[in-house]
Amino acid sequence: MQQQAIAILDSGVGGLTVAKEIMRQLPREKILYFGDTARTPYGPRPAEEVISYTHQIVDYLLQYQPKMIVIACNTATAVAIEEVRARLTIPVLGVISPGARAAIKSTKNQIVGVIGTDGTIKSGAYEDALRLISPSIQVVSKACPLFVPLVERGMFRSDQTEQVVSATLSELKETPMDCLILGCTHYPFLSDAIGKAMGPGVKLISSADETAREVSTILYHKGMLTTSMKMPIHQFFCSGDPNMFRSIAQGWLNEEIGVTPVVWQVPNII
Ligand code: DGL
Repeated sequence: MQQQAIAILDSGVGGLTVAKEIMRQLPREKILYFGDTARTPYGPRPAEEVISYTHQIVDYLLQYQPKMIVIACNTATAVAIEEVRARLTIPVLGVISPGARAAIKSTKNQIVGVIGTDGTIKSGAYEDALRLISPSIQVVSKACPLFVPLVERGMFRSDQTEQVVSATLSELKETPMDCLILGCTHYPFLSDAIGKAMGPGVKLISSADETAREVSTILYHKGMLTTSMKMPIHQFFCSGDPNMFRSIAQGWLNEEIGVTPVVWQVPNII
């Protein structure tokens, strides 16, 4: 079991922000990464659809017998994590509780902003996770449905991106929050534009760091950390255009990768 891989999944390239941090904190662990780019974005989809896609990807990854699953997608974590956990015996970790914990650690004035997809914001999962830890915290949320398509097109720093980000976040600037949770794993790709729009008084919180720390803690306590001394060769799968995926992934991870295309029977693109 120790030598098995950590499987990470997302609707597209967003989960790479979590994968990169896991690779940094646990450099000897092998990663299997699945980006469901044929069906991204998940944010506007009904919960049942996101749940069924998540099960389908988990089933695909299970053929490689991973020792742990990381649902590196807030939208899927919000609606599917309990179901996935209930049917597996290996640890299953999402990104919402780690993101909430990171914000609680950071906030000084107890006013926290959350941005995410429509699905994540509608679910109220961040409010629940934050208030579970700190009942008095004030949470201001906003769905940003235009952000994921920009990232999937590789438009991280264009003028158009800056305009869209600034217009979308303008109303959040009215609230005196001191930190903003990037409640979608795609958003760290846009952190320059988001940081510029929110100004220097607002700290951006990504769940990647805290999620990776939790992966490390869980594997350590379960005696499941790898004992291999060899550097791992990670595997990447994507259901859409492998060239686009490879180009974004290589830029983000700063390394060459191989991508295995996966063709779903019914791609269901919106
Ligand atoms: N990266 C996902 C999330 O964290 C994706 C969103 C989407 O596909 O809309 O929610």
